[in-house]
Formats: sequence, structure tokens, C-alpha cells
Amino acid sequence: MQNFTFNNPTKIVFGKRSISELAKLVHPDEKVLMTYGGGSIKTNGVYDQVKNALKGHRVIEFVGVEPNPEYETCMQAVKEAREEKVDFLLSIGGGSVLDATKFIAAAIPYEGEDPWDIISKGMEGRLRLAVPLGCVLTLPATGSEANGNAVISRKALGQKLAFSSRHVYPRFSILDPETTYSLPERQVINGIVDAYMHVIEQYMTYDVSAPLQDRLAESILLTIIEEGPKVRKDPYNYEARANIMWCATMALNGVIACGVVEDWATHLIGHELTALHGLDHAQTLAILLPAVWKHQRVQKAEKLLNYARRIWGIESDDSETAIDEAIDKTVGFFNSVGMPTRLSDYDLTPAECMKVAEQLHRRGVKLGEHKNIGKKEVEEILLLCA
Ligand code: NZQ
Ligand code: ZN
Repeated sequence: MQNFTFNNPTKIVFGKRSISELAKLVHPDEKVLMTYGGGSIKTNGVYDQVKNALKGHRVIEFVGVEPNPEYETCMQAVKEAREEKVDFLLSIGGGSVLDATKFIAAAIPYEGEDPWDIISKGMEGRLRLAVPLGCVLTLPATGSEANGNAVISRKALGQKLAFSSRHVYPRFSILDPETTYSLPERQVINGIVDAYMHVIEQYMTYDVSAPLQDRLAESILLTIIEEGPKVRKDPYNYEARANIMWCATMALNGVIACGVVEDWATHLIGHELTALHGLDHAQTLAILLPAVWKHQRVQKAEKLLNYARRIWGIESDDSETAIDEAIDKTVGFFNSVGMPTRLSDYDLTPAECMKVAEQLHRRGVKLGEHKNIGKKEVEEILLLCA
């Protein structure tokens, strides 16, 4: 096992009617800027629950954070927060609102010339503070509720980039599975696939003698495979909603990453596909994963075989056959929950997507646990996504 430091400071408040806990979690002296998206929280009752819980607190609102949150939108909120001298940011919604809120939190006290540098020039490590934040999560998918990561887009530059800082972990995250009843089916599917993929990116590399982390990762995968279809079949199944929500948090709160080797190739290529072609985050992952595995089957063989055996019960003596079957089973699972796995499902061709490889290359990004995926290899992977 590799050396590691683990510190996750986020308090998780989980369960039915947990939004009422907000009154205790936000200090009465704190002036709150509440951030939210396009209005789902107004129609599903979450907005009213939040306002009710924060009766007596000073709360102002920033509305209109879009999916794949935009830098320009975040900067409007930064301006408002600075003018209003807010003490605390409260994100209400999915991963996009929360990621935007993390960036806003870092940008408000940022003293450099342009807060975009935090992301584009890797100034995240130099951040000394951020405005404290919390969240009420309404979409289980990203794991953003219990990590220090955020992904921000800048359409004008065709960029979608991530940053990470210990200062932007939420102080608390409220997870009430009942808030997810109102999710459109597309977002339910996205959430299932995104959470599954987060586990995969921290698991499918090579063995470092970390059997506990491997088995924790496998447990999350097996639970998603069991519970995901239940949510789709019966949207009001509380237990299934709760289990999927907890899986998504556990998938990216740092626990399964302890001491293991990670490879975020699928995610990083996927972010470029979203930036250039507007596909949802999880849609890009489902297209790319089978191709990345086919391309990297030698490097990932040992773990692919483990995965074949332990997740899908594949017992074939021939390792090539077992790996092929494991890839097919994964594609079958994604398809069974309603997620397409080919570029052609979105009327795109590999040729139209080659700029993805160019963009990564220009930023000097090398992917894969052995850093063996460069421009040529990304192009080869895209060809396998047809
Ligand atoms: O804007 P509103 O009206 O709230 O509607 C949203 C949005 O249109 C809607 N929604 C959310 N909760 C709902 C709901 N509709 C009805 N009922 C509810 N309970 O769902 C739509 C999509 O929301 P969004 O927040 O964009 O989805 P998600 O949570 O999947 O977040 C995706 C973003 O997170 C980034 C992705 O790249 C993408 O930008 N990621 C962040 C990560 C992190 N911070 O650790 C890791 C991930 O790998 C990912 O990259
Ligand atoms: Zn993801």
C-alpha cells in the first residue's frame, strides 16, 4: 500500500427531513448567500424547507447556476457576495451548483489578478482561505458533497477544468434522499453511471496490496448494480434512493482512494467531450470507459480480471475471454439502466471529436496510471468509441 494522508472534514447529515437541521448547522450571526440552479428546488419543495429552516437567519439568494457551471456565472455571484459581505455560502442542488459554490468560495477572498488562474494556472495550492460553505444535495452523482473538488467551464475558451483545495470541502452536507424523488430520469441515470465511474477510476489500475480498499470499492460497485435498477423501476423507493445516495458519497469522499493508484483518464477525456460537444458528464464516461479498457487491457489486466470475477462472477480460465466478458457486462449494465455507450448514439463520429486529443495535448496532459496515454493514444481511444 502507498503512503497516504486522509482527512475529510465534512459533516454528513443524512436522512428524511434532515433539511430542518440547517437551523443548527448555520450560525445565526452568519450572513448566508444561498446559491441554486434553474428552479428545480422551487418545484420540489426543497426551497421552502430551506427557507423555513433558516427563518431568523439573514439570507440572500443567487439564482441560475447552470449544469456544467460557467465561470462568468460564478463571477457574478462573487461580485454579489463581496458587495453584500456574506459570511457563508449555502449550495442547494446538484453537483453543478455545489462546484460553482466552491469556486465562488475560493474566488471571493482571492487576491490575485484573475480568479480563473486558480484553475487554469493551478493556483489552487496557493489558496490560503475560502469562504466557508455547506450544501443541501438534491442529486446523488458527483460526490462533490464530501470532497474538495470542483469542475468549472468557460465556454468562450472551450474549456472545462477541475481544481481541488482543502479549503472548499463543505463544512456540512445535508443528504435527504426524499429530495431526489423529483429527479428527471436522465439525471437518475447520470448519477448511477457517474458514481460507478468514480469507483472505477480509483480501482482499475494495478494491485498495490490494498485488499480492503479493493473490497470497499467492489462493495460500492455491487451496491450500485443492485440498487440502481430499483430506483429506476420505482422512483419513490426510499431505501433504494438512500442507498444510491450514500454510494455516490462514498465513491468520491477519499476513503477508497487511500493508498491506491488512481487513473482519471476517462474523466479527463470526458470533460473535453462535454466542453466541445455539450454531452452530459456521465454520458461521456459511459462512451469512453469501454474504449479506455479495450485500449489499456494489458496495463489493467490484473485488476480487470479481479473485476470480472468479483463483480460479474466470470470464471473463464482464459483471461482474454474473461476481460472481454467483463467489458461486455459493464456495457450491458449501463445500457440496462438506460445509458448509451457509443458516440453514434449522439450522432457524433470519432473524427468530429479529435479536437479532444489536441486540447489535452496542448495542456501537456498525460493520462493512465503509467502516464502512457498521450495524444496518439487518446485518438485511438476515440476511434474505439464510434
Ligand atoms: O438547475 P436545477 O433546476 O436545480 O436542475 C438540475 C439540473 O438541470 C437538475 N436537478 C438537480 N436536482 C434535482 C434536479 N431536478 C429535479 N429534482 C432534483 N432533486 O438536474 C440537472 C443536472 O444537475 P447537475 O448539478 O448539473 O448534475 P450533477 O450533480 O450530475 O453535476 C454535474 C457536474 O459535476 C461535475 C461534472 O463535470 C458536472 O459539471 N463533477 C464534479 C465532481 C466533483 N466536484 O467532485 C466530480 C465529477 O466527476 C464531475 O466531474
Ligand atoms: Zn464524474
